[in-house]
Amino acid sequence: MIDGRQFNRYLTSDEINETVEVLAKRINTDYEGKDLLLVCVLKGAIVFTSDLIRKIKVPVEVEFVRLSSYGRSLTSSGTVTLVKDIQTDIRNKHVLIVEEIIDTGRTLKFLYERLQKSNPESLEIITLLDKADKRVVEVPVKYVGRNVDDKFLVGYGLDLEEKSRNIKDIYYLKYPN
Ligand code: IMP
Ligand code: MG
Repeated sequence: MIDGRQFNRYLTSDEINETVEVLAKRINTDYEGKDLLLVCVLKGAIVFTSDLIRKIKVPVEVEFVRLSSYGRSLTSSGTVTLVKDIQTDIRNKHVLIVEEIIDTGRTLKFLYERLQKSNPESLEIITLLDKADKRVVEVPVKYVGRNVDDKFLVGYGLDLEEKSRNIKDIYYLKYPN
């Protein structure tokens, strides 16, 4: 029970760790001999990013962006705005956007197109979780940890009204509303 709502476990911290391990291996192979700039999408991706960077073996920098999807509650709204931008020039850099979950794709489409305008050497997206069935707009996601069902998930960075990001496992909300 969190805030009077009923949750069931969806992924254990061990399962999450194995998923992050697999993703890190792919990155270490794909970016071998290159420097990498991770762009962590605040706030949800902080936990995934902090686990991921410690498994990455190529030289890595981290930047942060914060986007806001106006009117978000348990469902996504249409309008995305940039609340906090990156603080470095990404021209000629290998950039990897780090997201914890993709739903409609609107947030990442906005960010991807914005970063693309700064002419990075390469620009890819990694997400721990993907609600692929919920996609409304196309986004070029290269690395997906796990495809997940259309459930509202909390824990491991994912929040329910800003709470529960600190839970180690990932839970799903049993009764939305
Ligand atoms: P999108 O723009 O619809 O793809 O929304 C992506 C963002 O919505 C993610 O970065 C999360 O912050 C949030 N989000 C989507 N699904 C969930 C969920 O199940 N739990 C918590 N946050 C979610
Ligand atoms: Mg997020």
